[in-house]
Amino acid sequence: MNVPYFDLKMQYASLRQEILDALDRVCQNASFILGEEVSLFEREFASFCETKHCVAMNTGTSALHIALLASGVAPGDEVITSPNTFIATAEAISYTGAKPVFVDIDPATANLDPRAVEAALTPRTRAIVPVHLYGLPADLDSLLAIADRHKLVLIEDACQAHGARYRGKRIGGFGKAAAFSFYPGKNLGAYGEGGALTTNDDSIAAAARILRDHGQVTRYYHDFVGFNYRMDGFQGAVLRVKLRHLEAWNARRRELSALYRKLLAGSLVQFPQAAPHAESSHHLFVVYVENRDAVRAELEKRGVATAIHYPVPVHLQKAYAPLAHRPGSFPHTERACSRVFSMPLFPEMTNEQAQYAAQSLLAVVSGK
Ligand SMILES: Cc1ncc(COP(=O)(O)O)c(C=O)c1O
Repeated sequence: MNVPYFDLKMQYASLRQEILDALDRVCQNASFILGEEVSLFEREFASFCETKHCVAMNTGTSALHIALLASGVAPGDEVITSPNTFIATAEAISYTGAKPVFVDIDPATANLDPRAVEAALTPRTRAIVPVHLYGLPADLDSLLAIADRHKLVLIEDACQAHGARYRGKRIGGFGKAAAFSFYPGKNLGAYGEGGALTTNDDSIAAAARILRDHGQVTRYYHDFVGFNYRMDGFQGAVLRVKLRHLEAWNARRRELSALYRKLLAGSLVQFPQAAPHAESSHHLFVVYVENRDAVRAELEKRGVATAIHYPVPVHLQKAYAPLAHRPGSFPHTERACSRVFSMPLFPEMTNEQAQYAAQSLLAVVSGK
């Protein structure tokens, strides 16, 4: 049996007419940048995230950048985040001129360890950016308490957490702002690049709208040096169609993740656990094994495609060599990165495919 890592073509086949009609509406209206479809998507995604505002952008990285800038993060500040993430989390901090300060993860959850955050605070600390990695919400109670006690801004990197919940409430409204990515492979993926900032704060939303559009307050009147981070009309239209299916897709991801967990329980295969009160969006199903590369190669031979999120922690990327971290700086993160890989997971996957993938993994780790 062949189990692809994911399959966006299958999803398109099931949505084809709805998508083509939506793209046609954009062409008929000639509203290629922002426009009505994007405005409607903003309203619908804010409602989905249970937040007051959504400001659509061209990428999740831009949304993080603007969230930090609009919250007042500036050169000379320090921003605490996880090294166990995609590099964009740190890049967005660097774009503001602030310094990314990495702290280690809690190995149980793969997310920021609040005790490590507390230990890394300095008078320059301005913000904390927890990443809800793989769709697993970070320990927000503890992180918000730290932010509150030390008057810090908390910005959620929710780029993998569309639809996740914490204490029953949707991710996206816990901090000053949150950033989502609509990169095609995400739970809610565009047909190109896409991102959004969500917030309950009117002034952050207003600043984000201005900053994403060249600092423009009214047409051709620019109060700030801003950015061209606008979402295009096609992406707004596609995302509106897909948003209507997101709950059902996430529910199917949840079923498949539960099936994987059941089949792998009690074996040598480990996986990260949800923090208390956290409900994952099940973006990725990641496992930890020894001899990861050999296990993946054997799975590939058996027709099971896998991926790694992420092979090199951000503090050991060449791009961040100037921060002078060394192997051993963040042992839990480094150990996770050396053992982690992601199993196939997408809503259209069948139970038989999940069973075959899990049984193949069990056979490989037990040397059969
Ligand atoms: C955790 C995390 N942060 C940030 C980003 C950046 O999003 P984008 O690729 O839309 O810029 C991603 C997307 O891959 C991500 O997974």
